[in-house]
Amino acid sequence: MKDKNTHHLITSALPYANGALHLGHLAGAYLPADIYARYLRLKGEDTAFVCGSDEHGAAITMRAKKEGVSPREIIDKYHHLNKDTFERLGISFDIYHRTSDPLHYETAQEIFLRLYEKGDEFEERETEQYYDEEYKQFLADRYITGTCPKCGHEEAYGDQCEKCGSALSPLELINPRSTLSGQKPSLKKTKHWYFRLDKHEGWLREWIAEGRLDGQFHHDPKSWKKHVVGQCMSWLDGRLIPRAITRDLDWGIPVPLPEAEGKVLYVWFDAPIGYISATRQWAAEQGKNWEDYWKGPNARIVHFIGKDNIVFHCIVFPAVLKAHGEYQLPVNVPANQFLNFEGRKFSKSRGWGIEQHEYLEVFKDFPNKEDALRYALLRNMPENRDSDFRWDEFADYHDKDLADKLGNFVNRVLVLTNKYYEGKVPDAAGNKAFRQDFDKLSLTAQSSAFRQKMTGLAQNWAAEIEAFNFRNAANAFVELCELGNIYLQEKAPWALWKANPEDPAIAACLNDALQLTTLLSLITQPFIPFTSDKMRRLLNLPPLQNGDWKEALQKLQEQKPLLEAGHQIGKPEILFAKIYDRKDDSRLRIIEAQKAKLQALLEEEKKGQAPELKPTVKFEDFTKLDLRTGTIVAAEKIPKANKLLKVEVDLGFEKRTVVAGIAEYYKPENIIGQRVVLLANLAPRKLRGVESQGMILMADDAEGRPGFLSPPEGWPNGFPIR
Ligand code: 2FM
Ligand code: ZN
Repeated sequence: MKDKNTHHLITSALPYANGALHLGHLAGAYLPADIYARYLRLKGEDTAFVCGSDEHGAAITMRAKKEGVSPREIIDKYHHLNKDTFERLGISFDIYHRTSDPLHYETAQEIFLRLYEKGDEFEERETEQYYDEEYKQFLADRYITGTCPKCGHEEAYGDQCEKCGSALSPLELINPRSTLSGQKPSLKKTKHWYFRLDKHEGWLREWIAEGRLDGQFHHDPKSWKKHVVGQCMSWLDGRLIPRAITRDLDWGIPVPLPEAEGKVLYVWFDAPIGYISATRQWAAEQGKNWEDYWKGPNARIVHFIGKDNIVFHCIVFPAVLKAHGEYQLPVNVPANQFLNFEGRKFSKSRGWGIEQHEYLEVFKDFPNKEDALRYALLRNMPENRDSDFRWDEFADYHDKDLADKLGNFVNRVLVLTNKYYEGKVPDAAGNKAFRQDFDKLSLTAQSSAFRQKMTGLAQNWAAEIEAFNFRNAANAFVELCELGNIYLQEKAPWALWKANPEDPAIAACLNDALQLTTLLSLITQPFIPFTSDKMRRLLNLPPLQNGDWKEALQKLQEQKPLLEAGHQIGKPEILFAKIYDRKDDSRLRIIEAQKAKLQALLEEEKKGQAPELKPTVKFEDFTKLDLRTGTIVAAEKIPKANKLLKVEVDLGFEKRTVVAGIAEYYKPENIIGQRVVLLANLAPRKLRGVESQGMILMADDAEGRPGFLSPPEGWPNGFPIR
């Protein structure tokens, strides 16, 4: 029988198992994927949500070396830490697998061999690569550092410069050094397998720009984020070149070829295949067919990642899958941008930021800590541009949205239903006598206007999630809460009760409000699942199950109740205790402590910045310096000297040749006409064969970039400075 079911496969980037994850990671690739997967399940869709640890690569072996332990010890420690932390935060992976698992070795090797056997997907190349004679090891990727040829950063890695972001190959580095011995490496011949990415450029372009694959519709290209398509196109506009997918390392998946002894697969070749092995493992445990999610015509793959992984997920991995021939490609890769923390990048070494498990620890006495965090990250998710996490905003979202808008509404509804109807959902039509001055029709009309709005907002919520606009979906949730609060405020059932407890308008209003409360128990589930569970309990409803949203939507559209009249609800409980609470500052203190920690870091930094001055000099010494105003009239590069420019300075009474170490920052043609101050009586000295007759005064900025000191405008050349 033909399989008509859609099989959703949701992946989150496999984190390296060499460290803990911070809130930026959570907001980037895990929370949005969780929201999406939870939504699909509620909709009754067949969904596999997979993730796991990325356990290979030089990042892990180097950490192991630094700590004097084996890579296995490192990956075991962080695999479990990350897995448990995700679980505690309610990230509902169906499986959290690991790339050190034998099933993953098998999967990755199979795919490698399949491509190898095709004959034209790989190219074998013997090249010279850096080798550490002392450690008897080739120096791949992070094992080699040196100066970046593009920006001059002195600590660039063999595969990438982290300062300017350029992708590099080890041979491009200036002054290469081994990170093992610190020595200059030698060159040694070695053979590697290169994936012919260049062959795939044509169809990749059509697939990404037009959403067409093999001449057929694949996805709507407008459904992909602009920044994702933009990054891909700029890669494609550059040149795709063959990429080495093997390495000379002793940690990783062995290259499954007899002539490749001692070589392993490149970590970025095997890591995304980890999604496949995770699915295989999960399907085996569930008695499902993993191929439905990867190969079947109704597979629907979505990769959630941060923007630093776009190229691997949109270009390299799809090319591998296409080369293999049997796999489906992702229908979307809704990559997020980066989350900053209180105005700066997260930085472990500077102590700036907070890790997921650390948050859970520091906030252990904070009620609803998981949902409070999930919600703040959702409202501020870096969907299309970088965003910033701030503790003050965290508190605002908590108090204004969760405590006031959601919490108060739900609480009032539960309290009033218990008080007026002994906790039984009142009949919407009002079983009791009709209110004299309020006809049934107008009550029904008001109620149906309310329900229409409610249904409309709930549909918006769903549509926004399906379009990966999670912030908009959160807005729809807030609007639903507001709708409820305004309705209660306008109807004021408590006032009606005072006048006449039999008034059917009270029952009608509370029935409506209870429908909305029930709807909110569904709408909140992908965002703040712990609160949703609690709301279900307070409503005395069973925990949510797959398909509940689909059923609820149908009821809404058919104008049927989500909660039947006569249903007995539970007793009210507070959902969120406010942070800004005059009577109890225990929650505020936790946040204040975090802010104080950051403040202390800033002050420490400021102290560290106060420079130590050089020893005092006498006035007579200073007057020995002859400083003169001047203008640069000519400049040129000095051959074979990356940092030096030969500059001619006009002092009015004569011209001087000066060698200045500014070539990394200034192009010769851009400094002609620059006004300068010259130390004119500095003893001449020869630099790279050029006699330098003075020194141009410069001031460094915080990054060490030199800027010219200029005389006041209009000052002639050659005037003394004192
Ligand atoms: O950037 C990273 O943290 C990688 N470990 C992500 C890998 S995603 C996938 F390919 F597995
Ligand atoms: Zn650089």
